[in-house]
Amino acid sequence: MTLRNIVILTGAGVSAESGVPTFRGPDGLWEGHRVEDVATPEAFVRDRVLVQRFYDARRAALAGVAPNAAHRALAQLDAEWRGELLLVTQNVDDLHERAGSRRLVHMHGELNRALCTACGAAPEWRIALSGNPPCPRCDAPALRPDIVWFGEMPYQMDLIDAAISACDLFVSIGTSGAVYPAAGFVGLARAAGARTLELNLDPSAGTPLFDAARHGPAGTLVPAFVADLLSR
Ligand code: APR
Repeated sequence: MTLRNIVILTGAGVSAESGVPTFRGPDGLWEGHRVEDVATPEAFVRDRVLVQRFYDARRAALAGVAPNAAHRALAQLDAEWRGELLLVTQNVDDLHERAGSRRLVHMHGELNRALCTACGAAPEWRIALSGNPPCPRCDAPALRPDIVWFGEMPYQMDLIDAAISACDLFVSIGTSGAVYPAAGFVGLARAAGARTLELNLDPSAGTPLFDAARHGPAGTLVPAFVADLLSR
């Protein structure tokens, strides 16, 4: 089978070995925080400062972490793969970019960006939002984290759908398959006739939907997968 167009979906598991907490399971972020308190538009209306502080702390924590072998292998694939490649991440950290990935979309937003609810600007943002600073474009004190909360529409869905419809290989790495629309990508890829592969620590909700699955840490599985692809 000719292999030219690849779409890769990553989730929190790809950053776990860097020390970024995942969401579900023991020590997951959603074990220590209620989604309804910090990750919905209603929570932001109810208690803006609580929500800002939650994301300020997560943004600050990024300074102390670094990309791992899985991020580096995906960056190598980005640099060396001659066909189409799209890395779709659900992660809001910047570890894929720091490793060197360029053909990348953040479907759930980015910790290092703010979004102005007054003028729509989405400036890079690396300092605290909880003091309610003014928007650098319109000056309104109306900035929120540029994070796609529960109940909101993920970013770049048209681009992602088009890439999946045209792909020959779809690979899901380090995601529990619990959150749509990302959890539905494997079905779209299959419908498009692509081969589908899961790389995850444990079997996930979506495992039965993939043609093949390998289970283990991303820091080991992803470099092996990339080496294999690049040697074809
Ligand atoms: N290597 C590979 N996979 C791992 C590793 C690792 N070292 N550590 C954990 N995992 C796997 C877990 O087994 C789990 O299946 O990563 C997955 C992480 O799942 P979640 O915590 O549910 O994270 P994710 O799938 O990214 O969540 C999706 O949910 O809360 C929302 O918006 C948030 O983007 C997030 C979305």
